Amino acid sequence: MNSDVAELFRKISVGVYIVGVASPEEQHAFTASWIMPVSFNPLLLALSINPHHRSYSILKGSPQFSVSVLGEDQIDLAAHFGLSNSEKQLDPFKIENGLGGCPIFKEALAFFECRVTHDFLAGDHRLILGEVVDGRLNDPSRSPLLYQSTGDLDRASAFYPKDFRTSDEEQR
Ligand SMILES: Cc1cc2nc3c(=O)[nH]c(=O)nc-3n(C[C@H](O)[C@H](O)[C@H](O)COP(=O)(O)O)c2cc1C
Repeated sequence: MNSDVAELFRKISVGVYIVGVASPEEQHAFTASWIMPVSFNPLLLALSINPHHRSYSILKGSPQFSVSVLGEDQIDLAAHFGLSNSEKQLDPFKIENGLGGCPIFKEALAFFECRVTHDFLAGDHRLILGEVVDGRLNDPSRSPLLYQSTGDLDRASAFYPKDFRTSDEEQR
């Protein structure tokens, strides 16, 4: 192998989003990059979430989530909601309450509102499928923030394997 696995995965182009979740008691949000469209009819988005996140403990009992699309000038927002030791206060931001109270960031360049249709185990993450029931493009002139521009903000390089041995090979 001639490349670092974490660096190789940074070449997959994905955006950076704030996923909003809510229960009757609280609103919460976290930064996610592992989001992609997966179906036209119905319109589905897939979200991969670490089940140890506080957000998943809220999402698993809730039928909806929101996805705010960050612009290229919003890396600070990605850091605020993407670091595990951060407080993730929503107060400093202009928030709109979406479906079920899920927070939507008014200063994001776009947002989607999704109803959860599936929740699968996917390796060490949960794969959530959500049907898109609403959304808005706030500013067509802005470009989205790309995951590759965030460097190792998510500290993911610590989690990638050093080589491509499959789990089958590891058991031998
Ligand atoms: C740029 C970036 C992308 C991230 N993408 C994801 C992701 O797709 N899925 C995920 O589960 N965590 C992702 N994270 C990590 C979470 O945002 C982070 O662990 C967060 O603290 C979880 O918050 P919570 O435990 O309060 O829910 C990402 C972090 C950053 C900075």
